Amino acid sequence: MSQTASPASRAGSLFDLSGKVAVITGASRGIGRAIAERMAEHGARVVVSSRKLDACETVVAGIRERGGEAMAMACHIGRKEDLAAMVERTTQTWGGIDILVCNAAVNPYYGPSTEMSDEAYDRVMNSNVRSNFWLCNMVAPQMARRGDGAIIIISSIGGYQGSDRLGVYALSKAADMQLARNLAVEWGGGNVRANCIAPGLIKTDFARQLWETPWLLERTVKHTPLKRIGEPDEIAGAAVMLAGPAGRFMTGQTIVIDGGRLAGFSRAEE
Ligand SMILES: NC(=O)c1ccc[n+]([C@@H]2O[C@H](COP(=O)([O-])OP(=O)(O)OC[C@H]3O[C@@H](n4cnc5c(N)ncnc54)[C@H](OP(=O)(O)O)[C@@H]3O)[C@@H](O)[C@H]2O)c1
Repeated sequence: MSQTASPASRAGSLFDLSGKVAVITGASRGIGRAIAERMAEHGARVVVSSRKLDACETVVAGIRERGGEAMAMACHIGRKEDLAAMVERTTQTWGGIDILVCNAAVNPYYGPSTEMSDEAYDRVMNSNVRSNFWLCNMVAPQMARRGDGAIIIISSIGGYQGSDRLGVYALSKAADMQLARNLAVEWGGGNVRANCIAPGLIKTDFARQLWETPWLLERTVKHTPLKRIGEPDEIAGAAVMLAGPAGRFMTGQTIVIDGGRLAGFSRAEE
């Protein structure tokens, strides 16, 4: 991570998040952690949340060491009462939530749809869609009352493609894009923006099985114009942009960050 920018160098920047409060789910590692660290670096006070408080505390300690402001909160996104408590505590401590990043998600199943259990289906749809729906509905009204807010949902390029192995995960990620559009329409009058980021394959624990399986990694790299998979920090910049002044006229959209995977691949290498 680069050094924390001084307030003077941030002032007037399109990416200045000074004075803003950001809540990020699933921020103890991976993409959520990178977003939390980068938002703090750009001046936001960040709530680092996941199921494991100690893992969040470690991220918070790192942010504070670099001069940022952060607090850790345990929050299981599948529990409505956890989400409500996080919103309540953040609002009481820091006065409100200006930026909400719905990042945590699950994928307990890889295989054909015909063999997916109802339990696995419910877990995917409930964690990846319903939890985001709950949390956004808890936060959007206070943003609209203040006349400003940015909601960012971490979707996936899976939400743009049919899949014979990750079908319901892809369904949930397409639903997240629709959720952002609905929120954009429902809360735009209160100056609340809602957008998604759709990453391609990123080197995190979540996708470990994909990038640790040599033939899968090789196939992905071959079909990716930039010839590599991504790093968590390569998603964070877009989140900072969407949260700050640079993103203030953007809503209801999805930014794809995938090394060009959806753009196509070279047939010359086939
Ligand atoms: N990595 C990729 O290739 C990729 C590609 C496209 C999209 N995405 C999306 O990017 C987002 C982040 O994934 P990642 O790759 O950064 O994953 P990751 O490195 O495995 O991190 C997942 C984070 O979510 C937390 N988490 C998991 N279940 C949770 C729950 N029920 N409640 C609260 N927190 C929970 C984890 O912490 P605890 O274990 O402490 O709870 C951790 O902080 C997800 O929405 C994923 O679908 C990832």
